[in-house]
Amino acid sequence: MTQRAIYPGTFDPMTKGHVDLIERACKLFDEIVIAIAASEAKNPLFTLDERIQIAEKIFEGNNKVKVVGFSGLLVDLAKDNNAKILIRGLRVVADFEYEFQLANMNRAMMPELESVFLTPKEQYSYISSSLVKEICKMGGDVSEFVDPISLSELKRKYG
Ligand code: COA
Repeated sequence: MTQRAIYPGTFDPMTKGHVDLIERACKLFDEIVIAIAASEAKNPLFTLDERIQIAEKIFEGNNKVKVVGFSGLLVDLAKDNNAKILIRGLRVVADFEYEFQLANMNRAMMPELESVFLTPKEQYSYISSSLVKEICKMGGDVSEFVDPISLSELKRKYG
């Protein structure tokens, strides 16, 4: 049976931490669906289409990875994609409380969906999309934190 896992997030933009996690997940599961949430309330810098394109370019040639955008409930997307595994990253202890809440709410709505938490490489544990955007906006170098594809899109946005 194919083990399909879903990895949701806003990915505004996708960082090296996200990429590292997806590569780890590829070793554990047969298929990974990167589920990019519209997250309109967070006023993303990149449109949903742009975030999808960035993820598709980064994982071009990796036939285990599929990228989808969504704006509804995550559990509905998991059901539509026949995914029974939900992947989330845990960077620091501060992430835990929110992730614990999310996992339990999702479990209440879809008991058969199992949340699996992965930790990124230590040097990526402090990377956050919001900080990357802030640094880049102020002219700082973020090449250490994001994939070259995200980097060129960030430079395009901030001129
Ligand atoms: N304003 C603007 N941006 C914000 C924000 C805010 N208040 N809070 C967070 N963000 C941005 C940041 O860039 C942050 O990235 P960073 O932590 O790397 O800096 C990014 O959003 C991450 O936010 P977070 O909420 O931690 O997770 P996520 O966006 O990666 O994923 C989903 C959250 C998509 C999994 C979750 O919202 C979801 O499942 N949505 C679908 C609807 C649903 O099913 N809801 C019920 C869940 S039980």
